[in-house]
Amino acid sequence: MERLSLQQMDADWSKLIDLESRTVSPRVFVDPAIYEIEQERIFNRCWLFVGCESQVPNPGDFFTNSMGEEPVIVTRAEDGKIHVFINSCRHRGSRVCRIEHGNARSFTCPYHGWTYDLRGKLTGVPRLREAYYGDLDRDQWGLLEAPKVESYCGLIFACLDSGAQSFESYLGNA
Ligand code: FES
Repeated sequence: MERLSLQQMDADWSKLIDLESRTVSPRVFVDPAIYEIEQERIFNRCWLFVGCESQVPNPGDFFTNSMGEEPVIVTRAEDGKIHVFINSCRHRGSRVCRIEHGNARSFTCPYHGWTYDLRGKLTGVPRLREAYYGDLDRDQWGLLEAPKVESYCGLIFACLDSGAQSFESYLGNA
């Protein structure tokens, strides 16, 4: 199947769904270009359901999930606040948390041992002085966090786009 560019796809949407015959082109399900567009325009911009508050009832509780292709860790910090972090170490990008759920006080990356607390702050770097000559500002290297997180009736939603509309407005009359 011929692969179309994103620009070509934009011009081609109307051909994908035939309202009269009520058919959908198989391209919708298999074309990597459409998949790419979905990731960019839907999963990276929309509010997504990531889990339930009941999965993290206590401080330190966490579970892993994904937002589109982005792996995330959902934690409840000591102050009760729920965070959604990108599950990728700020050092070399290794997956920080590799289990599905549990209770922890911190997360230590299995690759070189960088440690993050429940608020995503970088708290531990092995051989900090020798490796970085005291020049690593740990405050700058915490886990990246979904900029928008809301809980609605016990359901946790997050959005990776800091410029996205509020969750309330996104829901509309739903
Ligand atoms: S990649 Fe995580 S500590 Fe190096």
